[in-house]
Amino acid sequence: MVRFGDYVRVRRGSTLAIGILALALLGLAACTPDETRLPAGESKAPSVGSPEEETSGTALRVGFSQVENANPWRIAQTISLLEEADARGIELVYADAEGRTDKQLEDVKYLLAQDIDYLIFDPREYIESAPALEFAKEAGVPVILIDRAVLGEAGVDYLTRIATDFTMEGRRAAEWLIEHHGDAPLQIVEITGTPGSSAAIDRQQGFRSVIDQYPEHTVSVSATADFLRAESQRVMEHIIQSTSGQFDAVFAHNDEMAIGVTQALKNAGIQPGHDVIVVGIDGARDAVKAIIAGEMGATVIVNPYYGPVTFDVIERIDAGEEVPEFILIEDGVIDATNAQEMINQAF
Ligand code: AHR
Repeated sequence: MVRFGDYVRVRRGSTLAIGILALALLGLAACTPDETRLPAGESKAPSVGSPEEETSGTALRVGFSQVENANPWRIAQTISLLEEADARGIELVYADAEGRTDKQLEDVKYLLAQDIDYLIFDPREYIESAPALEFAKEAGVPVILIDRAVLGEAGVDYLTRIATDFTMEGRRAAEWLIEHHGDAPLQIVEITGTPGSSAAIDRQQGFRSVIDQYPEHTVSVSATADFLRAESQRVMEHIIQSTSGQFDAVFAHNDEMAIGVTQALKNAGIQPGHDVIVVGIDGARDAVKAIIAGEMGATVIVNPYYGPVTFDVIERIDAGEEVPEFILIEDGVIDATNAQEMINQAF
């Protein structure tokens, strides 16, 4: 397996380097079906790219601080940004926080010291990740937020945020559940994402805002599994034991956790899709396959392909154009009615 360290610099035109990175990321996805976590490498930044490229001219140099690469959604997002930077001749300095907020803050300091023109920041947590914005302000580097939100003001602490609507995603999951299985009262288990992340906070809020309108339906258990499949399976096994399996549906804040749930249910002799309805978020390939197999009810699509839109925005800003403070990436729902046609777009 190709291994690489915490920090990776991708110089323009280094298609080979991108290919190696993409293979490493995809290889991880293939090698560890339960949980795809990048190997923790050396803390020094290995260079990727040929020596001739060292001296390349005046291309933009951009930093990217990623939360982790622990699931297919994250891996697809990382590859999209790396490939798009390469295609546009933009030098990308990339750091993977490996699912740790403290490391992400250190990563941001490292990236800001690399003479970058812009920082692309996907903050792990809403409040605890906020110091990164201060670091960037002190360094005079403009920040483009992607995906998750962080405490701060658009136009003051960062330039713009490009993201999906997490609250809407939670709402869509609840609406699907009620529309398709809401005739009888539902006892619902919720498996939440990383505590303190805006994705988990807003998805929970959106889901509850719909369920709360129906007194006959209740969220009877809520537990976190950090957006991770193996952790979700472990948490679900515990919930099955403590409730004797007395629940009708599970809402998981992402598909990796939804798949962990289906595994735990099957291991306990409970048939997902028949005895318990499972709904997830992301639109990942394994979830779409589970929908086709009748083991999951639905997933809400969250487009991970941030590369084109993010670098469009950066190039517009760099050309002196004004951009909106918030740029929405639209989502949708996959269920049995469209799973077959969506499988080829899934990641
Ligand atoms: O912030 C977006 C969420 O983060 C994705 O839904 C999840 O899979 C990822 O880890």
